[in-house]
Amino acid sequence: MNEGTETMLDKPQRAQIEAPALAGGINRPDLITVEQAKAMSLADMTTYFKDHLNPGQLHFMKLLGFNKVKVETAEGMYYTDQNGRKILDFFGGFGSLAFGHNHPRILAARKKFQDENRHEIAIAFLSQYAAALAKNLAAIAPGDLDMVFLGSSGSEAMEAAIKLAERAAGPKRSRIVYAQNSFHGKTKGVLSITDGPLYRGEFKLLDNNVKVPFGDIDAIRNAFERDPQIGVLVLETIQGGGGIVSAPPEFWREVRALCDKHGVVWVADEVQCGMGRSGRFFAFEHAGVVPDITALAKSLGGGKSAMAAMIARRDIYMKAYGTPKTALIHGHATFGGIGEACITAIEGLNILYDEDLIDNASVQGDYLLERLRALQEKYPKIIKDVRGQGLMIGLEFQDFSQTLPMVLRPVVAVLDDKLKGSLSGFIGALLLRDYDVLVAFTEYNRNVIRLEPPLICERAHVDQFADALDDLLGRGIVRIVKDFVGSQIG
Ligand SMILES: Cc1ncc(COP(=O)(O)O)c(C=O)c1O
Repeated sequence: MNEGTETMLDKPQRAQIEAPALAGGINRPDLITVEQAKAMSLADMTTYFKDHLNPGQLHFMKLLGFNKVKVETAEGMYYTDQNGRKILDFFGGFGSLAFGHNHPRILAARKKFQDENRHEIAIAFLSQYAAALAKNLAAIAPGDLDMVFLGSSGSEAMEAAIKLAERAAGPKRSRIVYAQNSFHGKTKGVLSITDGPLYRGEFKLLDNNVKVPFGDIDAIRNAFERDPQIGVLVLETIQGGGGIVSAPPEFWREVRALCDKHGVVWVADEVQCGMGRSGRFFAFEHAGVVPDITALAKSLGGGKSAMAAMIARRDIYMKAYGTPKTALIHGHATFGGIGEACITAIEGLNILYDEDLIDNASVQGDYLLERLRALQEKYPKIIKDVRGQGLMIGLEFQDFSQTLPMVLRPVVAVLDDKLKGSLSGFIGALLLRDYDVLVAFTEYNRNVIRLEPPLICERAHVDQFADALDDLLGRGIVRIVKDFVGSQIG
C-alpha cells in the first residue's frame, strides 16, 4: 500500500473502475510489462522500491549513492549504467559471481536448453539434470561427501544441513555449537545459529545451541567435554559476514579430530567461500580435512539462477534418511533441482575447471593482497588490516571516530549511525562516485570492506581497483569525509 495516498479499501475499487474487463469478467489489473520494466525510469524504480519492497533499505542506498545507478547491462567484470558508465564489480554479489556477469558459455547453455523445450520441475519423473549435477558435485567433493540435496538458497542448503546433522546425531545429541559473528542465513532454523543481533531481532529462536569464539579450539573442546548433548558443530570455513575471518589449517585438523573423538557431526558452511573462491574448490581443502556435511550456493547458480546444494557423507546421510520410510522427510522442495538452474550449475562447474578459475583465484588473490599490503604501508593511519585467501579479501580501516578533527565531528555525527565512525562507507561511496568501482560492506564489522570479485578477474582489474583506492586514500581522511558529505548534498 502506498502510505498516505491510498487506503486498503481504495485499491480494489480503483481496480474495478480503471481496469478493462476481460471476456470472462475478470478485471485485468494495471500491470507493468517486461519491456516497460526494462525501460523504467530511476524515479519510478525508487518509488516502487519504497512503496512495495524495502523503504528502510533505500535510506542506505541513498547514503552510498547506489540509488543513482540504473544498471542496463552487465558483462564479465563490469556493470554498465544508464549513462554508459562502466562499473568495475569488486563486490561480486557477496561471492555469487564466480564466472562474472553473463558468461557466454552459461548463456549459450541456457538458451539451448530453452530452445529444446526441456522440462524444468523435477517432482514427478527422475531428472537427468539433477542427477548430473549431483554426480558432478560428488566427483568434486573429497572423500565420501557423495550425497546431494538441491535447493535454491544458501539458507535452504544450510537448513537441510542442520536437519540432516540433527537426525544423524540422534535425539539425545541435538545441541549445536556455532561461532561468534557467524552468518548462515535468515530463515528461522539457521537464524538460530547466525550471530547477528540485527538479523535475530526479537524472534523466538531454537535454544539448543552453544556459541564459541571463531577459531578457538579450546572453547570447542571444553564445550564438547562439558556437554554430552552436543552432537553438531556448524562453522563457516571462512567467515564472510564476520569480515573475512579465517583460521589456520591446524585448527581445522583439530576440529576434525575432536569431532571424531566425541562423535559430533561437523557441518562446514561453504556458501560464500566455496566454488573455488579461496583458491581450492572448498576452503576446507587447504587443511586437508573433510567435514561430514557441507553447503554451497551463490556462485553454484552461475550468476544466472538460484541454485544451492547440501553435500553429505554417505554414512551420515544413510543414518538419517536412507530408507523408503524416511525418504520423504528430506525430499527436495518444489524448485529443488529445477532443470535450467541445474544445467547452469553443470556448465558453471565445467567452466571453473576448463578456464582454470580456481588457480586464477589464487594468483589474482595473491596479487591483490600484495597491492593492498603496499597501500597499508603507505597509509598506516587509514588501513588497519588486510586479510583473506584467494579472491575473498577483507580490508579493515582504522576506526576514525576518535581521531577525526573536532571541526568535522558534528558533520559526521549528523550522518547515519551506521556510517558514523566508519571509513568504509565513505570510501565505498566515493569509489563508486569518482572511480566507477563497486565494493561490499560488512554488517558485523562496519570498518571492513569485502572484496569478492568474480574469479575471471585479471591483473589489469586488480590494478584498476588498487590504483583507484590509492588515489582516493591519497586525499587524506579530512578530504575524504568532506567529499563524502559533499556527495550527500550534491
Ligand atoms: C556463509 C553463508 N551461509 C549462508 C548464507 C545464506 O545464503 P542465502 O542468502 O542464499 O540464503 C550466506 C549468505 O550470504 C552466507 O554467506
